[in-house]
Amino acid sequence: MPARVLRLCVWSLVLLCAVLAAGCRHKKKTPLEHGRGIFLRTCAGCHGADGRGGTARTGFTIPPKDLTDPELHARLGHDGIKHTIEVGNGDMPAFGALMAPEDIDALVAYVESLKR
Ligand code: HEC
Repeated sequence: MPARVLRLCVWSLVLLCAVLAAGCRHKKKTPLEHGRGIFLRTCAGCHGADGRGGTARTGFTIPPKDLTDPELHARLGHDGIKHTIEVGNGDMPAFGALMAPEDIDALVAYVESLKR
């Protein structure tokens, strides 16, 4: 095989790999994965990475709630969780003005998925 053809083959392979790798990186996240990302960045500092409320932060009048508690989900439901995120509650700040509506929806879906 002439060297020129061989070089062309190698370059085609390199290009193919680059395109595939780029494709993987841009794979769209599911809403739940998106919600999880926001939770870890925004909520986990108080509620813990697993949502159970165990964090090193102290000084709360009422400690951050355990978001895996089925009773909390029964009491709040989808709309109650959304409302809490939008307007806050006690020592928890309001996030309504800081987040896009679709981000809040993804976050609510993720919090609902934490239920035990
Ligand atoms: C600064 C700390 C802090 C952050 C950040 C925070 N929370 Fe909270 N959260 C709290 C505290 C404290 C409570 C308990 C408030 C109370 O009952 O007075 C709470 C309560 C809740 C409740 C239960 C409300 C109820 O009526 O029982 C939900 C749901 C909740 N948080 C979700 C979230 C989500 C989702 C995020 C991320 C957007 C978040 N929190 C970010 C501190 C925080």
